[in-house]
Amino acid sequence: MDSSSPQDNLISAADRDGLYRTIFSRRDVRGQFKSDPIPDAVLSRILYAAHHAPSVGFMQPWNFIIVKSKKVRQRIHDLFSLAHQEAAAMFSDEKRDLYNGLKLEGIMESPINICVTCDRERTGPVVIGRTHISTMDLYSSVCAIQNLWLAARSEGLGVGWVSILDEQKMKRILEIPDHIVPVGYLCLGYVTHFKKKPELESAGWLPRLPLENLVYFDGWDKTLPVEDSLLLKQIREDQDFPVGSVRE
Ligand SMILES: Cc1cc2nc3c(=O)[nH]c(=O)nc-3n(C[C@H](O)[C@H](O)[C@H](O)COP(=O)(O)O)c2cc1C
Repeated sequence: MDSSSPQDNLISAADRDGLYRTIFSRRDVRGQFKSDPIPDAVLSRILYAAHHAPSVGFMQPWNFIIVKSKKVRQRIHDLFSLAHQEAAAMFSDEKRDLYNGLKLEGIMESPINICVTCDRERTGPVVIGRTHISTMDLYSSVCAIQNLWLAARSEGLGVGWVSILDEQKMKRILEIPDHIVPVGYLCLGYVTHFKKKPELESAGWLPRLPLENLVYFDGWDKTLPVEDSLLLKQIREDQDFPVGSVRE
């Protein structure tokens, strides 16, 4: 029997504030990595946080391939360089200049890279919750990545997700078996600073969308005038959510 009291369910205001501060100050880090080593105690905590993510049917489909070898990271970097060139050709002339000016990885500058995978066969073919939507296991590994990302931020560490890679070639370099999907290739390390805003926002690539435009009621695209919804009014007021000042 679960004997927890209502009191046990409360998170203190300071802890809640810390969580929001972590969420709002997390960044995708590319250019601010320092080479300082990451203590094993810190890395272990971050991996445990990832391992405590929710997963469909409690499948825990993830593995974490920790890549420290410079040689291996260089091979992944070579893959990035090729894919990056190919990607540049896909944008319009105007966007290509902006794209080429962006730093989109920190593979060699960060001391550790981590590939988070999904074993789609971990607990057999029939999984509670995956019976009708087969991609739920992949989403579970993404949940692990988000836990890892936030835990790292709370430890003062930056994470950068690198997805501009040829998946099959990456699998070969990391010796990943066929049935395992590499979900995210991450760079991890201490940083000189965390930028206040996403780099793609500051660079003028895209703005952050107003949350009030993304919230529908009782069905797709069903909106309410802001005046008719206290929630939307509150969302509009909160749009410049000051990090760390959580209101009741
Ligand atoms: C699935 C996924 C893939 C991403 N791939 C890359 C990438 O290849 N290179 C990169 O620089 N950033 C990548 N990012 C980071 C996003 O650009 C970044 O999250 C977004 O611009 C918002 O910035 P923020 O994370 O600092 O808030 C990726 C993020 C996600 C969630």
